[in-house]
Amino acid sequence: MSEVIISNLAERPEKFEQVMEIFFEASTKKDFASMEERVRFLVKYLGVYVQSVPELCLIALQDDQVVGYCCGMHSTPAELYEQVPHLEIFEDQFEKYGAHLHINCSAASRGQGIGQKLVAEFEDLMRQEGAEGIHIITSPTARNVHFYKKLHYDHEVLREFNKIPLLLLGKTL
Ligand SMILES: CC(C)(COP(=O)(O)OP(=O)(O)OC[C@H]1O[C@@H](n2cnc3c(N)ncnc32)[C@H](O)[C@@H]1OP(=O)(O)O)[C@@H](O)C(=O)NCCC(=O)NCCS
Repeated sequence: MSEVIISNLAERPEKFEQVMEIFFEASTKKDFASMEERVRFLVKYLGVYVQSVPELCLIALQDDQVVGYCCGMHSTPAELYEQVPHLEIFEDQFEKYGAHLHINCSAASRGQGIGQKLVAEFEDLMRQEGAEGIHIITSPTARNVHFYKKLHYDHEVLREFNKIPLLLLGKTL
């Protein structure tokens, strides 16, 4: 297997299309009523981070193909709630676990340590940005909960947004 190299979207902007393919492949939502809805979904969970801070969107490249990405921000300002409303229910958590991340690996590349490598490099970036803690938000029943637990995202807060349970997992950096 060839080596995995971590780069970022600011250095390789032409790789955004491959990041987008992985985003939609990994998404549990597959049906969109219109192209506008598809674009809104993309902006809410990926575009909002990639557009404002592409240098914080890490990409894992294998044979120059994107096999995974990890993006986010070093803090969670209230201005984000308008675009990503579910963040607001965890507002009291952001002083301690302010940075956040989003990660996906292509289906063919999972379980090979790429996700672990991306998260470790992203956490280093967040420390350099001055973040003291980081969180992810997922479904309490998702398989990926085990992945984050392995990486010591041990602080757990379970809440509901529009009757859907959401789990925040936090880690001190
Ligand atoms: C979750 C995800 C990013 C993890 O990346 P990955 O490259 O597959 O994970 P790694 O190979 O680095 O795994 C690290 C450890 O976590 C475990 N792990 C990884 N994914 C797991 C999963 N879905 N369920 C349970 N354990 C998992 C691995 O077994 C490994 O443990 P080990 O070192 O003891 O073998 C990736 O599997 C993925 O994109 N999944 C689908 C989409 C998703 O859930 N995204 C996150 C949304 S919040």
